[in-house]
Amino acid sequence: MKVIQSILQKKDFDEADIVTLLAATHPNDVEAVRRRAESELLKHCGRNVHFRGLVEFSNVCERNCYYCGIRRGNLKVDRYNLSREGILTLAKDCAERGFGSLVLQSGERRDSVFIALVEDVVRTIKKHTRNASLPNGLGITLCVGEQSEETYRRFFAAGAHRYLLRIETSSPRLFKKLHPPGQTFSRRFSCLKTLKEIGYQVGSGILIGVPGQTTRDLARDVLFLRDQDVDMIGMGPYVVHRRTPVGRRYPPLTANRRKEIMRVSLLMIAVVRIVLKNVNIAATTALQSLDSWGRERGVQFGANVIMPQMTPPDVRNQYLLYQNKPVVDEYADDFESAFEKRLRPLNREIALNRWGDSPHYFVRDGHKS
Ligand code: 5AD
Repeated sequence: MKVIQSILQKKDFDEADIVTLLAATHPNDVEAVRRRAESELLKHCGRNVHFRGLVEFSNVCERNCYYCGIRRGNLKVDRYNLSREGILTLAKDCAERGFGSLVLQSGERRDSVFIALVEDVVRTIKKHTRNASLPNGLGITLCVGEQSEETYRRFFAAGAHRYLLRIETSSPRLFKKLHPPGQTFSRRFSCLKTLKEIGYQVGSGILIGVPGQTTRDLARDVLFLRDQDVDMIGMGPYVVHRRTPVGRRYPPLTANRRKEIMRVSLLMIAVVRIVLKNVNIAATTALQSLDSWGRERGVQFGANVIMPQMTPPDVRNQYLLYQNKPVVDEYADDFESAFEKRLRPLNREIALNRWGDSPHYFVRDGHKS
C-alpha cells in the first residue's frame, strides 16, 4: 500500500514506477490507482462519456496479423462488404440517436476501389448528417489501417478528422513476433507521424496481455503513447481466436486468468489516464467480451468513450477479431435503458449531439487551428 501511495504522489512516473503500479493486486492498491485516475479524468475531461457509433463496414483484409480472427489466412471467415447506402443508413441512424460521432472500421485494403469508396462514404455522410446540433455533420473517425500519405490526405479532405491506428505494441521485437515479415513496426510508426502532420486527431493503442508481452513492455507502451503525444487511446485485452497462429497455442482461459487480464487491462487504462491526462480513452468491446460489465469498469478506471456497435446484427458475428466477441450491444440496441442501468449509477453524463473531441488535441504541439 505504502509503495503504491508514494508512487501516486510523484509528479512523473518512470518505467519502474509503472511496472509497480501495474503489478498492484491488493484491492486497496488497485482502488487507490483507480481513484487517482478518476480524479484526473474529472479534472481534465469532466464527467461526460462520449458515444461513437461503431460501423464495421467490411471484414475483407489483406493483412495476416498472427493474432487477429479476420486475418487473410483465415479461410473460414465469410467475408462481407456493406454497401454505400447501407453505411449511410447506419450513419443517419447514429445522428438521429444523438451519437455525435461515428467510427468507420474495416479490414485493411489499399486498392483504388476501396480508397474511393471510403472517400465517397465519408463525404456523403458529412453531407447527409447535418442537423441543428451538428451543423457540420457527424464527427468521423477512420480505422482502416496503414495507407499512403496521399490516401490519408484524401480521407482528411473528405471530412474524416480523427484516425485510429493502434501500434499494437511499442516493442519492435514483440511487433515482429506478432506480424508477418511484410508488416513492420517502422512503417506503422511512420503512419502515425504522417497522420499527425496532416492534422488528424490521432488515436493509438496496444494489445494487453498478448503472449510474449511482459509488464515492462506494457510500462514502455504507456511511455511510448505519452511521448508520441497521441490524442486518443484505444486499447484492450488480447482475446483468443483459435483460428490464428497465436490463438492456436493459447492455453484454455481459466476464471483466474480472465480476472488477471481484466485487472491488468483496467490498471492500464488508469495508468494511461494518470500519465496522459487529457486524452480520450475508449472502453473497448474486448473488455466487454471478458466481463459483461467490462466497459463500465473501464469507465470507472478512467475511460470516457464508448463505441456502441452499429454494425448490423446479421454480420456482427462475421467481424470476429476474437472469439466470444459480444454480438449484443445494449448501448446500440436499447440505449436509454442501457444508459440508465449501466452508466447512470456511475454518476456520468452522456454527451449527445456533439463530436466530443479529445481536449489534448487543442493544446498539443502541431495543432492547426
Ligand atoms: N484480441 C483483441 N484485440 C484484437 N485486435 C485484433 N485481434 C485481436 C484479438 N485477438 C485488435 C487490434 C486491432 C483492432 C482493430 O483490433 O488491436 O488494431
